[in-house]
Amino acid sequence: MAYSGFLPIAWSVMPSIPALLPALALFAVTAQAANDPNSYAETDKVRVTNLALDLHVGFKSRQILGKAELSLDWRDKNARELKLDTRSLSIATVEILDASGKASPASFSLGAADKILGAPLIVKFDAQAPKIRVSYATHPEASGLQWLSETQTAGKKHPFLFSQSQAIHARSWVPLQDTPAVRFTYSADIHVPKPLRAVMSANNSPDASLETGLFRFEMDKPIPSYLLAIAVGDIAVKSTGPRTAVYAEPSMVEKAAKEFEDTEKMIVATEKLYGDYRWGRYDILVLPPSFPFGGMENPRMTFATPTVIVGDKSLTSLVAHELAHSWSGNLVTNSSWKDIWLNEGFTSYVETRIIEAVYGREQADMEDVISQFGLRQEMAELAANDQLLMLAPLTGRDPDEALTDVAYIKGAWFLSFLEKRYGRAVFDKFLRGWFDQHAFQSVDSDTFVAYLQKNLIDKHPGKVKPAEIEAWLKQPGLPDTAEPAKSARFDKVVAARSDWQAGKRDAASLAAAKWGTQETVHFLEGLPEKLEAKQLDELDAAFHFNGTANGEIAQRWYPLTVRSAYTKARPAIEAFLIGIGRRKLVMPTWEALMATPEGLAFAEGVFAKARPGYHPITTASVQSKLDGAKKKNP
Ligand code: BES
Ligand code: ZN
Repeated sequence: MAYSGFLPIAWSVMPSIPALLPALALFAVTAQAANDPNSYAETDKVRVTNLALDLHVGFKSRQILGKAELSLDWRDKNARELKLDTRSLSIATVEILDASGKASPASFSLGAADKILGAPLIVKFDAQAPKIRVSYATHPEASGLQWLSETQTAGKKHPFLFSQSQAIHARSWVPLQDTPAVRFTYSADIHVPKPLRAVMSANNSPDASLETGLFRFEMDKPIPSYLLAIAVGDIAVKSTGPRTAVYAEPSMVEKAAKEFEDTEKMIVATEKLYGDYRWGRYDILVLPPSFPFGGMENPRMTFATPTVIVGDKSLTSLVAHELAHSWSGNLVTNSSWKDIWLNEGFTSYVETRIIEAVYGREQADMEDVISQFGLRQEMAELAANDQLLMLAPLTGRDPDEALTDVAYIKGAWFLSFLEKRYGRAVFDKFLRGWFDQHAFQSVDSDTFVAYLQKNLIDKHPGKVKPAEIEAWLKQPGLPDTAEPAKSARFDKVVAARSDWQAGKRDAASLAAAKWGTQETVHFLEGLPEKLEAKQLDELDAAFHFNGTANGEIAQRWYPLTVRSAYTKARPAIEAFLIGIGRRKLVMPTWEALMATPEGLAFAEGVFAKARPGYHPITTASVQSKLDGAKKKNP
């Protein structure tokens, strides 16, 4: 079977792709101040309310050729212009549709491309119209898509495509108002080469026919653009419950279903805390290992890394996390990226509550200790302004920079602080009210602070002081009121580690304790900066760390070997860095390597091999560290 490009739509209407590539502007174009600084959309003038897509997925050309019909809600009666976000899109035509659906060509222009924002597509109207239709093609290197060749998949027979739209990459595959301030419903006709399956953040049907090459989707709840998602490949399905299933390449689907068998339990636990799950089905798509994140909460279809499938369910807090977003984020959404803690902090808090409900307090405590350790480490490297929950507007910045443990872990910690002060009964009700009363809305930190004041602080006086809240939200570092998580199981790990370091126990006796993932991670995190080669030999002999299939362990072990100049681990490091593209897992090892001239040389060699398989997001992170390291060590 051939993966022909775009025969369905006359290619002749599309000018050649290179000719249309927007030139990189030398000077940044700044977006309007009152609006989301990471989007060109002027949401006070007009808003997109529905998107109807018709997309042809071409694996040969690595392009999507599409039509996007946008329904418009004009907010300002004098407005005659619509600004959409695009990045590296080639726009063929723009038509204006009148109320009867009659199309007429629109006058439009693509502005200069900004490195972060992309290029505005500006459409002029003689009179306000209810719809426009844009015909366009994506760039083969669209920042929000990854095209995998057959050899980059587990099955090796079929290519694979997946999107990652958050934070501002939806604009690289659909022209739209790419700001979380705008919500829209959508439908899509997706044309793919047979016998591949397409899935979206919409109503996937497990028994959709693979015979026609056409998949139809509907998302009838309004969602922000960053939740727009698509994947195409040789994807099998296995049901795991009444409203849950896993989707994965055929060779992965059984293992994935086993690992994620508790998903329904997690949904039930979350519903008990925060009310009904409002999205219908909750399916999980397991992607190839180049997926740059752990998970992405695409509604109705979480996208997940295969690196959490380790056989013992020890990393399924990822599912708890992405599921939690069905309330914190997908239902109640940050209106711009400076307020991402409202998404990720709330979600990390809810994640812990789900883990506690399904796996018990000990498991939740261990995970909290590990997260808080990570937060302290990361915060030590961050500028004071980036250590705040309430960040300044991200004008001129890439919103991915706001994605730090501050939003996640300091955010969650703040909610735990409130929970302790007010007690669970009161706090759970408060949080449920926040989700209910802001469902399907986009909100900012000020809205939350006002809600907090009215519904918690004023109602239950004397429990917290304004200065305490202020410290959490607006001051760098951790406030005095941050009570560290504790774990009795970890206390044992710490004791065992001291004994080993003091020579009172050997590594084999540590391994005999059969620690789980979290205990092993905690063991590794408490070791000194460097160990002797013979200590590393001993640990590796007992625990088989080199070549571990557990990325959370690899992420801690390999940097330790690098800092210790333990070059025996290098072949395993190379395989790890080439085989996995999840950014969080690989970055610590890349960074450790780049700290010495010898390591840097090794890293450059490995990067040359890893790069072709990496997602643009991970490539960009490694490249930027590499550039920095080379400046220091020319
Ligand atoms: N929504 C995020 C991923 C994200 C955030 C992508 C911002 C791009 C920009 C997702 O829910 C997430 O937080 N994933 C974590 C999982 C984890 C905390 C369990 C990840 O990918 O590591
Ligand atoms: Zn998240």
